[in-house]
Amino acid sequence: MTTLPKSMQVIEITTPGGPQVLQPAQRPLPAPGPAEVLIRVRAAGVNRPDVLQRRGAYPPPPGASDIPGLEVAGEVVALGAEVRQWQRGDTVCALLAGGGYAEYALAPAVQCLPVPKGFSLEQAAVLPETVFTVYYNVWERSHLRPGEWLLVHGGTSGIGTTAILLAKAFGAQVIATAGSAEKCAACLRLGADAAINYKGADFVAGALEATQGRGVDVILDMVGGEYLARDIAAAAPDGRIAVIATQGGRLAEIDLGQLMGKRLTIGGSTLRPQTVARKGELAAALRREIWPLLEAGSWRLPIHARFPLHQAAQAHALMESGGHVGKIVLQT
Ligand SMILES: NC(=O)c1ccc[n+]([C@@H]2O[C@H](COP(=O)([O-])OP(=O)(O)OC[C@H]3O[C@@H](n4cnc5c(N)ncnc54)[C@H](OP(=O)(O)O)[C@@H]3O)[C@@H](O)[C@H]2O)c1
Repeated sequence: MTTLPKSMQVIEITTPGGPQVLQPAQRPLPAPGPAEVLIRVRAAGVNRPDVLQRRGAYPPPPGASDIPGLEVAGEVVALGAEVRQWQRGDTVCALLAGGGYAEYALAPAVQCLPVPKGFSLEQAAVLPETVFTVYYNVWERSHLRPGEWLLVHGGTSGIGTTAILLAKAFGAQVIATAGSAEKCAACLRLGADAAINYKGADFVAGALEATQGRGVDVILDMVGGEYLARDIAAAAPDGRIAVIATQGGRLAEIDLGQLMGKRLTIGGSTLRPQTVARKGELAAALRREIWPLLEAGSWRLPIHARFPLHQAAQAHALMESGGHVGKIVLQT
């Protein structure tokens, strides 16, 4: 068995600010708690919430690492005393509450999933944060069914690409919004049935046209603000709207008459502060319902760019430029 080093390279947020505040540092190797595993990280996904955390707008929940990074893949190298489901040497991907931008990361054992058959560690590393979020909001909370219409805003984001691919694999129909003709074309290549350039067209009109006036059954909204009233206008009777971010503002004015008339359900959630037990239940559901789907086909999230760990600042600058389609990866 290889001996573990005493320290590891990590990326610290030295102070809230721009990408340059992400700096390499050395930290002692953490030891797993009773229900945790220590993972030798080979790849870590970069997500928008990491950018918000870096700016000081999304602090880690109590008890979580101050190091950014919500998802990794790699080998299990140490186990807590109560861990039975994993062995040293297993390759896993894991949802973290923080700590992913590092050579080693701790994860609750129940938040780990096996690397899907046929996936590289890099392809697996970019799954957890967006697959957990999309599954939780679109299926567990909004109950999307085969044949129904899903409208996903930000179709080329990590979340958006995941939602398009998963919903199409489930037999749903998908409309995506994106901010350029090129990004709309990328959504269509991923399998979306329609794509609307939100900078040049009204997504409500586009969604109604694509559904012959009926509207969409489920909406995954990462914009919020004035989009909520328009989501309600674009929704079909008995539609469900899941708000997962407020890039367009936290406040909304909505027509409660339309809400009642269409019998709509509006929900909102954040994944990160939820309990380990709840995330463990989600992991078990993903393993049962989503992993077979991933392993059955050529399903892969698009990886737009990869950076070595010490260039995390460049990875964030790319994410903030909005020039990416799909995910950005850090390699350790
Ligand atoms: N609640 C949760 O549990 C949870 C979990 C994970 C992520 N999130 C949130 O989900 C969002 C996506 O995360 P990510 O990591 O996938 O980020 P990302 O790749 O950086 O994507 C951000 C996306 O927002 C889109 N967008 C911004 N303004 C828009 C508008 N007015 N209309 C339509 N789309 C718009 C952008 O579209 P264009 O580039 O085309 O302009 C871009 O695709 C973030 O806001 C993140 O905070 C929430």
